[in-house]
Amino acid sequence: MITLCVAGGTGQVGGELVRLALSAGHQVSVLSRNVPPVGSAKHHDGATYFAGDVTSGDGLAAAVAGADVVIDCLEGQFGKAQKQFADGGGRLLAAAHLAGVQKAVALSIINCDLSSFSYYASKAAKERIYAESPLQTEVVRATQFHGLVAKIFAAGARVGLIPAFKAVRFQSIAPADVAAALLEAAVAESPGKSHAEHHVVTIAGPETLTMREMAESWKSVVGSRGRIIELPLPGPMGDFLRAGHNLSSEQPYGTETFVSWLEKHRESL
Ligand SMILES: NC(=O)c1ccc[n+]([C@@H]2O[C@H](COP(=O)([O-])OP(=O)(O)OC[C@H]3O[C@@H](n4cnc5c(N)ncnc54)[C@H](OP(=O)(O)O)[C@@H]3O)[C@@H](O)[C@H]2O)c1
Repeated sequence: MITLCVAGGTGQVGGELVRLALSAGHQVSVLSRNVPPVGSAKHHDGATYFAGDVTSGDGLAAAVAGADVVIDCLEGQFGKAQKQFADGGGRLLAAAHLAGVQKAVALSIINCDLSSFSYYASKAAKERIYAESPLQTEVVRATQFHGLVAKIFAAGARVGLIPAFKAVRFQSIAPADVAAALLEAAVAESPGKSHAEHHVVTIAGPETLTMREMAESWKSVVGSRGRIIELPLPGPMGDFLRAGHNLSSEQPYGTETFVSWLEKHRESL
């Protein structure tokens, strides 16, 4: 049993991680700006919740106190939050170092350093901060989540057209599989505990599918009457996807397929 501080533990992956870590018998503290009320879906009995903000640094010391490992599942998608994303990770690491935390694990995106898309660039900037930290660090780079692809289909279907980007494939992964990889990284024994070791691992979902194949599955599970339309995706994101930088050549880590994930989440799609 170890003590984990999950930053972003009320989010999509963070929430799965908190649930998994508690069921494995670990002690868990959670850091997020908003503390979920007891009884709400985001609240897990047994975890201790701390309100804090990595942008200002408020509440960080209390959240990381006593932790063996800090796991960063934070997000900062747009505008100011995206610009401040990497520095927020730095502030969390500094608080962890000051508190005597041994190790920090961060969730990132596969090959984010190969894209000029600003969102991916912010992930790569955080990765560099982790690489330079005096703590033992591990970056877990995941492929796109099943829900991200499903969201693109749902957005298009609202106007009757389900977009399938030409020449694009995904090897999407379930947040629960990502959470399992983060927990594995957090509890793994490191041989040279006194050194500031840094590791990077990449995890991918169990199948590589064309976006059209995924659109067909989504349409059938959701029962949508939208028309699948193949179209090119312009810009750096299109270049990244067409180059296959979102795919991994390593043995897949995730076990939950896109269709199985869709079926489980049918009600909320
Ligand atoms: N979506 C994908 O396909 C994909 C693929 C690979 C990797 N990833 C990466 O996975 C990570 C987690 O994604 P997710 O979808 O699980 O995120 P999410 O659901 O948006 O959760 C983000 C968490 O961070 C907390 N948070 C945000 N800003 C904060 C701040 N300033 N201070 C403290 N807590 C803050 C949020 O709680 P509050 O709002 O209450 O603060 C929440 O707990 C992201 O970095 C993302 O890039 C995503």
